[in-house]
Parts: sequence; C-alpha cells; structure tokens
Amino acid sequence: MTDQISRRKLLAAGGVAGLLGVTGVSGAVAMGEESSPDLEKYVQSLPIPEEREPDSRRWGVEHHEVEIQETTHSFHPDLPDTVIWGFDGQFPGPIIAGRRGRPLAVEVDNSQLPDEHLFEVDERIDGTTTENYVGYDGEVPEVRNSTHFHGLNVPPESDGQADMWISPDGVEGPRRARDVQVLPNRQSRLTSTYHDHTRGLTRLNNYAGLVGPYYIRSREEKRLNLPDGEYDIPLVLADRSFDEDGSLQYPKMFMANVSGDTATVNGAAWPSLEVEPRRYRFRIINASNARTYDLGLDNDDSVAHGSVPTIHQISPGHGFLEEVVSIDHHGDLHSLVLAPFERADVIVDFSEYAGETLTVTNDAEFPYAGGMDHGDNTESHPQLPEIMQIQVADELERPDTSVDPTNLTLPERNGPDPDDAEVTREVTMEMDMDMDNGLMIHTLNGKRWGDPVDFQPELGSTEIWELVNDDHHTHPIHLHLVEFEVIDRERHGDHGDTEGEDGHDTDHSTGPLPNERGGKDVVRVNPGETVRIAVQFGDFPGTYPFHCHVLEHEEHDMMRPFEVVAEDETDNPWRSCSDDPDREHSDKSGWG
Ligand code: C2O
Ligand code: CU
Ligand code: CU
Repeated sequence: MTDQISRRKLLAAGGVAGLLGVTGVSGAVAMGEESSPDLEKYVQSLPIPEEREPDSRRWGVEHHEVEIQETTHSFHPDLPDTVIWGFDGQFPGPIIAGRRGRPLAVEVDNSQLPDEHLFEVDERIDGTTTENYVGYDGEVPEVRNSTHFHGLNVPPESDGQADMWISPDGVEGPRRARDVQVLPNRQSRLTSTYHDHTRGLTRLNNYAGLVGPYYIRSREEKRLNLPDGEYDIPLVLADRSFDEDGSLQYPKMFMANVSGDTATVNGAAWPSLEVEPRRYRFRIINASNARTYDLGLDNDDSVAHGSVPTIHQISPGHGFLEEVVSIDHHGDLHSLVLAPFERADVIVDFSEYAGETLTVTNDAEFPYAGGMDHGDNTESHPQLPEIMQIQVADELERPDTSVDPTNLTLPERNGPDPDDAEVTREVTMEMDMDMDNGLMIHTLNGKRWGDPVDFQPELGSTEIWELVNDDHHTHPIHLHLVEFEVIDRERHGDHGDTEGEDGHDTDHSTGPLPNERGGKDVVRVNPGETVRIAVQFGDFPGTYPFHCHVLEHEEHDMMRPFEVVAEDETDNPWRSCSDDPDREHSDKSGWG
C-alpha cells in the first residue's frame, strides 16, 4: 500500500522537521521547495460565487443538500487545472443565505470523496489516530469532514465541531450527533463562512477548498438601501501555492506557519473586476489558512497619483458598526486589516473614478505580528503586495439609487454590557516546543484540546475574557456560539520586558479600533497585547470550542472547549422555543 509507505517516510522524516523547527526563530520554514509558476496578473475576470437554491422546503424550512466533491478547478488560464475539494465541487463554495429568524437546514454529504487525502496527513497532529481520543476506540479514517457554520448561534450538535466528523464510508467521530445541521439564524444579519473544522485535518481540508460564504439577511438591512443584487459582491481571499502541474502545494510535514505565494480571490489568481462608476457593496472574507491582510487601494492611472475612493466599512461581520468607518489615507483608519476568518462589509463609491484602474494592495507581513515586523523572512514567506485589480468602466448601466455611505445612519445595536459581568477569565497564548515530536506548538493557557473543560460559563451570563498574547505573532482568537464586544486593548510594552520603568503600563490601554465597535467573533491579539472582550453566553447550553483561527495554530494545539451550563433545564431557550412556536421568530439575543 503506497499509503503506508508514505506514512512511514513521513514519520522517519519527522525528526528532521523537528530540528528545522527549532532553528527557525518563528517556526517558519520555507513551505515549498519551489515557488509557484509565474502567473500574469489581472488577465482573468473575478468569478462571483452564486447563491445556492435550497433543494427542498419542509414545513417551511429550507433544506440544502450540499455535496463535497473532488473535482478540477481553474485558478488561472495559464495554469493547468487544479484538483480541489469543494462544496458542490466549487471553490469557494456557493453562497448559502439565510434570513434572520428563519431556520435553515443543511446536510453535507462527503460520501463521494476518495479515501485518501489530497495532502499528506501528518499523524503527529492530534486527532489523526485513535489514541488521541478520550473515550473513543473506533478507527480514524484518513479522510473525514465536519462542516462548521462560523459565527452562528447554534446548538452544539449543529455546530460542526472538530470531533463531529464523518468519513466518506460513514465512520463517525465521537461527538457527531446528527447529519442535518439546523441553523436557527436567530441573531443579527451576518456575513460569514461555512468551512471544514475536522480534528487533525482542518488546515488541509480548508486548503483543499472547503470554504464558502454564509449570509444572514434581515429586513432592517434591506431598509438601509445598500448596493444590492449584482452590486453586492463577496470577495473571498485565500493565498495558495501551486506546483508546475497546477496541483496545490502544501507542506508534507506539519509547519506552524504556512503561506501561499499566489493571491486568489473567489478562486481566481490575481483577478480583475470591472465595475460601473457607482457604489458597490463588498463583503470581504479572509478565508486563508494563516495569512492576515492589510488592505488598501492604489491608483496608477490618476493624474493626481494616489487618489483613491474611500472604503466605508459598515460591519465587522455581525450586524452593523456603531458608525460607518472611513478607510483611506485621511480616514478613521488608514487600511483594513483582516486576520483569517475576519470579515468586513464595505461600501466603495467609484462614481468619480470612471475609466480608472485601481489595485487592491496588501501591506501585511507574514507571519503577521501586528504590522510591526516587515519582511525579516520574505524568502520563506513571500509577501503578497497585490491582490486584485478593479477597472472602473466609463459609463453607468443604470442610475445608482443606493444610499450614500457618508450619509448613512446604521441601526442601533446593543452588545453585552461589561458591567453585567461577574466572572473574568484569562486566556494566555504561548508558543513552545512539543517534547513528544519536536514540533512547534501553540497553546491556550498551556493546555490542549483534549484536556478537560475548565471554562463553564452559565447560560445567559456575561463574562469578561482577557486574551493575553505572550508570543511574538498575532493570534486571531475565535469563540463559537457568540458575538462578543471588544472592550479595550492594552500593551504590555516590549515582549519579554516584564518590568517597565514606571512599574505599570495602564497608560497603554486603548479602546477598540473603530471597526471593532460591533459584533465580532474573531479578534486579533497582537504580540505583547491583552485584549479584553465582553461575552454573553446565550442561547444554547453545551460544549463549544474557542481557538486561534490561524488553522495551523488551531490544529497544534490552540483550541480549548468551554461549556455553557444551564442551571436548570427550563432555562434552555432552545427547548422552550421548540415547544412554543410563537417564540420561534422572537429575538432572544437582543442584538441589533
Ligand atoms: Cu471558523 Cu471554530 O471556526
Ligand atoms: Cu466558528
Ligand atoms: Cu495563532
């Protein structure tokens, strides 16, 4: 069996990888032996994922039956077709859209996948062998999937968590409870994703292509008169590396920081989008395994060089921001930073730029360290200074009647109130050497996913979590189930400098960034920083994960559980909701 041989080779090589890991300051080692073929930029137009039609409606609930397929995909006209795994055979997957207050049912079928993975599975990573599981002694097939709907307020059994996997021939992970995932959509409007979350395989399955946009639409949102229909475009950013034959390149052995040298948007390498001189809404989704972007616009054509339209951000993903945030050289923010699985809903007005060509630029280093670490290892981790191009046509096709973002009042929102919190918890981020295998390991509070649950918030209660980063890279921390509120950011001073001259550092505290003043589910914690968040633990009791959303960090082993406990069963709003049909459409969370 070739499979077995490659495994043995892999294990034998483990020692070498370990040594490399030790020498690299950041654990960052060149991922590919070679860089991707040179691909000409801006020669293909941006593909736009379609919105998926439900397969059926049962008792008024829309059902989606999504199939995970191995198929070929064209990333660029000059690159041979690439074998990918995609939802419905597409990368990114189709848009799945729900309506606020209306449940949606989704069943993901992976039975058509082969039983060998597209990439080498490194068995040193937890979750890939039976011994890694507590209380499970079944087999752990090489190919497994669990689909998570990121940012959704769902009961745990529909959450698509790491141990809820299933293999193509039906072997089920220890925590899998159901095949049809029911998404209540009982929360604010949303721009997010659905993506693979399988224990030990998340980074590989996502890289293979298993990610797509998920939206919740609301009436409130409709009333704002935002650019709509063909003028409302998702931009799914994902860096990838390719071999000469078009195949996706991913390291054979685990590495803690993996980046691609080719920018793809909606599955196309360095695409170009033609727009009319009018307003557009873009839903920017960072679906990269590990790359953070620091986005801006550049204008080569303009006589007044550097003149670019302002990016007006209206949402960080959930609901709306307190106020529209302007992003340009003179704006509230100078650029738009998005870590893996952060999102931004923005409006850009191209009406003054007819006939001009704009470039979407990226100024972030890799691995990201808060924008402070420019290019000390550009050889092993290429920077991606350009992402895509936007060509503004000369003429409008029809008049633009959408709202002017400079004149837009966003719906009020009320997130959790930090004053309601009775419990404060600390989460520290550390990097270490895994003595078992010589690999770089990242942890939360020095623990691993398999260690017992030690966070048990009460259902409905509010807590403050202090996210402390003692490492030298940024960690985007994600909590399932909730949308939280960023309270503040505090700098500890230089990393490793424990005693400041003046004794304490409270002066270095700042409020949330302008575009963090809204419902978040991923927050960047930069090196030497403590970020405080207020979290309210509704609506469902049960066990959920929180983790770093750099997938290589998450998988080794920066993911921990929290268990929401209901004091008394009648406290469970889900239960009373299914008993009482009138409550189905009520808004339990009170989010704007
Ligand atoms: Cu986007 Cu735990 O996931
Ligand atoms: Cu999630
Ligand atoms: Cu991390």
